[in-house]
Amino acid sequence: WNYHVTHFVTSAPDIRHLPADVGIEVAFAGRSNAGKSSALNTLTNQKSLARTSKTPGRTQLINLFQVAEGIRLVDLPGYGYAEVPEEMKRKWQRALGEYLQKRECLKGLVVLMDIRHPLKDLDQQMIEWAVQSQIPVLVLLTKADKLASGARKSQLNMVREASLAFMGDVQVELFSSLKKIGVDKLRLKLDSWFSA
Ligand code: GTP
Ligand code: MG
Repeated sequence: WNYHVTHFVTSAPDIRHLPADVGIEVAFAGRSNAGKSSALNTLTNQKSLARTSKTPGRTQLINLFQVAEGIRLVDLPGYGYAEVPEEMKRKWQRALGEYLQKRECLKGLVVLMDIRHPLKDLDQQMIEWAVQSQIPVLVLLTKADKLASGARKSQLNMVREASLAFMGDVQVELFSSLKKIGVDKLRLKLDSWFSA
């Protein structure tokens, strides 16, 4: 697929406001500031397709982008803001869980984690949800440019080892929007999910 022609479709507060549950969707999830918007922009070679982070707790929308007819990329709200009130966090987690568990056209999940702080509780919960729902996962260790190559490799190996515990289809790769690391791996994975 040609990801460069991707365009914005809509933002929805919850799954009831999403367009018809047909075609194929792949969602990008991760803690706030993990680099989701940047990764989408890098993949699509567009500077501001996905807007970069706003005020913590404000981005509660599910953003949909269309690559081609029936082929969509989804930017899920970032999680893990310490400053967000408990009540809002719960609502948010419910919306995310609901999307992962109920959206029939969801065929793959990209979970982005800052390579320096991987596998926080909510990251693990996202992966567990996906595995339970039989959705394949691509974990991207973002901002790989922030580590020297030795540290980078040891983090990759550590997360790969830890991911075996999920007992699902979970692939782990390095990623950097800044240095364009892992973009081909991401594209290949998306191609495979979108053509299944
Ligand atoms: P939310 O929308 O708040 O959930 O955040 P996000 O996951 O979309 O993160 P975003 O893409 O907005 O990036 C957050 C910050 O990390 C920005 O300041 C980016 O410039 C920076 N960043 C993103 N990707 C990279 C990367 O590959 N390398 C480096 N060094 N910085 C990055
Ligand atoms: Mg973002």
